[in-house]
Amino acid sequence: MKHPTLFAEPAEPVSFVNRRTSDVTFKGKLSLPIHRWYRLTPSFSPQLALDIADHFGITPDGFVLDPFSGVGTVPLCMKYRGIPACSIELNPYLHFVGTVKTRTYADLPDIREFFDSFLVRAREEVAAIPKGKAVAGYLEENAQFIPPIHKPERWWSPMNLAQLTCIRRLLLNTEDTGEHIDLLKMGILGILIPVSNAKHNHVSLTFAKEPLPTVDVVGVLADKLGDIIDDIDAVSSLPCSEVKVYAGNSKEAASVLPRSPKVSAVITSPPYPNRFSYARETRPHLFFFNMIASAEAVGQLETDAIGGTWGKATSVLMDGVEPANAVVRKLMAPYLDIAHRDGNGHLMTAYVVKYFNDLYTHAEQIGKVCRARAKLAYVIGNSKFYGQPLPSDEILAGIFAHFGFALDGIHKMRRRVSKAGLYEAVVMMSRQ
Ligand SMILES: C[S@@+](CC[C@H](N)C(=O)[O-])C[C@H]1O[C@@H](n2cnc3c(N)ncnc32)[C@H](O)[C@@H]1O
Repeated sequence: MKHPTLFAEPAEPVSFVNRRTSDVTFKGKLSLPIHRWYRLTPSFSPQLALDIADHFGITPDGFVLDPFSGVGTVPLCMKYRGIPACSIELNPYLHFVGTVKTRTYADLPDIREFFDSFLVRAREEVAAIPKGKAVAGYLEENAQFIPPIHKPERWWSPMNLAQLTCIRRLLLNTEDTGEHIDLLKMGILGILIPVSNAKHNHVSLTFAKEPLPTVDVVGVLADKLGDIIDDIDAVSSLPCSEVKVYAGNSKEAASVLPRSPKVSAVITSPPYPNRFSYARETRPHLFFFNMIASAEAVGQLETDAIGGTWGKATSVLMDGVEPANAVVRKLMAPYLDIAHRDGNGHLMTAYVVKYFNDLYTHAEQIGKVCRARAKLAYVIGNSKFYGQPLPSDEILAGIFAHFGFALDGIHKMRRRVSKAGLYEAVVMMSRQ
């Protein structure tokens, strides 16, 4: 499977206004090799990353950074354009996804054999799980292998949970290590939501009214692993560059990244100020293979993230947050005033102020890692604050201007259909 959109030569001219949804959002990656391994709804289209790279005229002499890696869209796109690139991601599961997707795999026959033998064992063991009410006994006996997430029975129907528990036990007990295991884990984590009672009806996951009936979980996994094999095969003969996904916080980008090379372009999309929680969204995946130690650690992850809003992060906001400096204070003044008039905006005001304080810290770090004449593209959505639009794109541009990045243009790429007045824009800036 080779897809023209992923590997196409630059299309001229590239436009950033009124784009098709699939040229902006996750929808543009659902049929693309490797990009399709895990669906993150607030991730952007590979076509957008490639169009920005073309617009900036980035060549293999450049070095691209995505400080908010998500599922690794930017480093993956740059890799098969032959452009050296890296990214930073705070969430351990998303860091894992980006890392596994951007590796180069040379030993396809070995991977296939490894997957096949795992599937044979999984089929045998799953066939032995007692059916009907007796499944409760199986879950009790294998309690230590049940996915360690709060109320797993809410996420998966009993028979589906038992099959996942069996697969999890097999994987945790295997003696193999290394990249093949990571690919297998990628496949398993990629099916957790499709075999669950959760649905992608909204941007965030929600539970379906009716739990999912029993499905053939090993069959679903076999299909997923088949896709992974096909995709590795599809890119195996393509020339590519070295890319790396760093684990860390983009508010400390200068200490996360190596001192050289300096970054020639940033192509990225930070969280939007819309209270979407990446930690909440990925908690089944974070816990399934113990990528995070505890519920407290998830709370900390959320608090450290830009735009963190869930659980512990909310209690941090309770005490109120002041603009960190005169730059943020001035840029936010018109909107803080609206909150004060409303009289009820304590928590939301703290949320929005913390969001832009964090972006300020991040922008300062970007100033440290970029070379002269570096180009930046920040994809961001606006939001509404007490019924008034909050122009996050303009505020972001104001913050970066303070660190010597001039605004080249804000392109409104598409309206977000769910709410009037909301749009997604790309903010283009360059270092003077
Ligand atoms: C809008 S998503 C990026 C999606 C990405 N463009 C893609 O296509 O997958 C924002 C990402 O930033 C990450 N993030 C939030 N705060 C961060 C921080 N302080 N440092 C690094 N990553 C962070 C989130 O976990 C999330 O994966």
